Amino acid sequence: MDMQPSSHQPVFEGVLARLSPQDRARVDAMAAPAAAKAAEAASHWEFEMPAKAVDAALGAETSDDVRRGLVAAWMLQLPGRVTALELPPAVTDLYPYWIEQVAGFLDKAEGVYDFDHWAKDVRFSLALSVPGAKSQVIDLSSPLGPKQMLQHALDGRGFGPLLRYLAAGARKEPWLEVHTESRWLRGFNEEGWNEAWATAAELCRARPELAGMIGSSWFYDPPLIEISPRLAHLRLNPLKGGAFMVHQGPGEIHTLRAGAASASRKALIDSGDYTARSWLMVWPRKELIAWADRRKSDVA
Ligand SMILES: CC(C)(COP(=O)(O)OP(=O)(O)OC[C@H]1O[C@@H](n2cnc3c(N)ncnc32)[C@H](O)[C@@H]1OP(=O)(O)O)[C@@H](O)C(=O)NCCC(=O)NCCS
Repeated sequence: MDMQPSSHQPVFEGVLARLSPQDRARVDAMAAPAAAKAAEAASHWEFEMPAKAVDAALGAETSDDVRRGLVAAWMLQLPGRVTALELPPAVTDLYPYWIEQVAGFLDKAEGVYDFDHWAKDVRFSLALSVPGAKSQVIDLSSPLGPKQMLQHALDGRGFGPLLRYLAAGARKEPWLEVHTESRWLRGFNEEGWNEAWATAAELCRARPELAGMIGSSWFYDPPLIEISPRLAHLRLNPLKGGAFMVHQGPGEIHTLRAGAASASRKALIDSGDYTARSWLMVWPRKELIAWADRRKSDVA
């Protein structure tokens, strides 16, 4: 189905119109080659790779106004890119909301372009990641080799994930990968996450080559069921639906993120009573689609 140009088109045109003539010329010259570099980098496991590829193409002296101009230019081309992807309605229905959010952000943005926002905007505006729900984006292609499941077993945490990975077809790539969008968190709740899993299931249904859905976060860590019960659904619902979890371990970024919004978790971290650990959530396509089917019949 063709995606229609959005009513927010004038916002993106306005961002471009506000650029200096030099910046505008740079955006016009770089939009196509930088998009190609980003697309080449998109299947790397690292989410930020497309943004880094664009940065490398632009060179060190590039201003954040040029970066915002590029995102605006790509947002104007987004309907064409999305149409070409032939995405299921579960995804396309979310675009009006997401385009409105990006337009609202770009319209007001000035000064430093936070790298996480830039990395997300590059992927989104080039349709390398697509909406999963109101607060979740889904990368269309992410690799998953056996290494992490092997490490989990070697660490004495059991062979279950490795066996599940092998049963899921192991090398059958790519996987979808979900990320949280911290700028608009109104869907960061149990229903919002269920919607994201359901969208992933529809993508898997529409694309038989996909192996399933993965996500990596501190918020899948088992102790959260006790210390942050409002987040327990993030681990428990995928597990109940046939996903498995792979230990990734502690790290500075996980400590920072786990302590960022919750005073009680921050206090436990600071006192040494809790160490935030990242886990990889792996939901193979067969189990994910079966979960979505059960959810549909529960809702009906
Ligand atoms: C992930 C994240 C969005 C989850 O936020 P959340 O749903 O509000 O859940 P949190 O457990 O983090 O809650 C933060 C605090 O707000 C409070 N809170 C959240 N929602 C509330 C509500 N509706 N009413 C009252 N208080 C509320 C909680 O009580 C909690 O404080 P406490 O744990 O000291 O009691 C948030 O932790 C965050 O922004 N983290 C940093 C970025 C990040 O990690 N992103 C994910 C990367 S993988």
